[in-house]
Amino acid sequence: MSILVTGGTGYIGSHTCVELINAGYDIIIIDNFYNSNIRVLDRIEKITNIRPKFYEVDILDKDSLDKVFKENDIQAVIHFAGYKAVGESVEKPLAYYHNNVTGSLTLYEVMKEYNCNTLVFSSSATVYGSPKSCPIYEDFPVSTTNPYGSTKLVNEIILEDLCKCDENMSILSLRYFNPIGAHESGLIGEVPNGIPNNLVPYIARVANKQSEYVRVFGNDYPTRDGTGIRDYIHVVDLAKGHIAALKYVLEHKGYDKINLGTGNGYTVLEVIKAYEEACGFELAYEIQGRRSGDIAECYASTKKAKELLDWEAKYDIKKMCQDSWNFTKMNPDGI
Ligand code: NAD
Ligand code: UD1
Repeated sequence: MSILVTGGTGYIGSHTCVELINAGYDIIIIDNFYNSNIRVLDRIEKITNIRPKFYEVDILDKDSLDKVFKENDIQAVIHFAGYKAVGESVEKPLAYYHNNVTGSLTLYEVMKEYNCNTLVFSSSATVYGSPKSCPIYEDFPVSTTNPYGSTKLVNEIILEDLCKCDENMSILSLRYFNPIGAHESGLIGEVPNGIPNNLVPYIARVANKQSEYVRVFGNDYPTRDGTGIRDYIHVVDLAKGHIAALKYVLEHKGYDKINLGTGNGYTVLEVIKAYEEACGFELAYEIQGRRSGDIAECYASTKKAKELLDWEAKYDIKKMCQDSWNFTKMNPDGI
């Protein structure tokens, strides 16, 4: 019996594959290399001494997916494959709906055909829209402000309906907060597609002398230093959260959604400071206006993850920045 990982050569997928292999699971990765490449497989092998079985497959291609299910005994799926850039989703909403919704539907159809009823889905804290307060609990109202977020919400609705209509299904949507950092080996990490929009990849770019300064989007929020607060989580903690989630879906039927965050918020200036400590030199920054669509603060309630999954994040912001910098130094031009 194997675990199928879609998007398994991507940022979060590759770290999760390492943890799955370390935990003794037999895994199969599929990816179309839209935002990753084959060298990631070499890196996973280098870390674990095991080369995972791999198929270059687009989840939109039903025949190829069918072949993967036919050739393997797949017990459960962890579904990472998708597009993830918020700004780009506003420019190309149809491409986002096609890849993230039609692609997922194609996967769910093939799973159904092969009676594979167990799934862990990559959702996002973006489904909370502008939360009424923090910490954010899983039963808070959901809403979206961009097509990317809508594709996550549409998937969650589909998956909940699948469970309502078939009592054999076991599905968890994991709502990630802000994943950052890298594997401590420095062999795998996040390689942004073009100039990054997210804070930590941008700070890494400044530390790597590819950009002059960090743009701080607003210092007039009602927070302790005026800059935005987010719940940054080490990608290895997040990956371990998937192992806990997998164990849970293998033992429980039905649908649920769970936050994966640390429960701690850091401001933009605190993250810049932590990164300076990690790299050992000062990083230039400039205060600019607020970025449209941003909220003042966003951090998770971790209660449900602790109760249901017996999982909680371990690494602090210092370790997240150290591992991000280590990966950046070792891979200045990406993987
Ligand atoms: P990533 O881009 O690094 O990984 C996604 C992988 O999916 C890539 O390797 C890409 O090549 C592959 N892929 C994309 N479309 C595909 C398709 N049609 N068929 C096969 N493979 C395809 O992204 P990530 O940061 O690892 O994110 C993984 C998942 O988590 C995504 O669904 C993303 O929306 C979600 N998520 C990410 C974040 C974040 O901040 N990184 C936050 C919340 C949710
Ligand atoms: C962004 C997305 C969100 C997605 C998440 C993880 C938007 C509006 N939101 O969230 O949907 O789920 O990424 O992929 O794009 N900041 C700067 N300078 C920068 C970049 C960011 O000051 O160059 C600030 C932001 O204003 C924010 C914080 O840093 O306060 C974190 O930003 P970012 O890393 O983009 O994550 P989110 O805004 O949480």
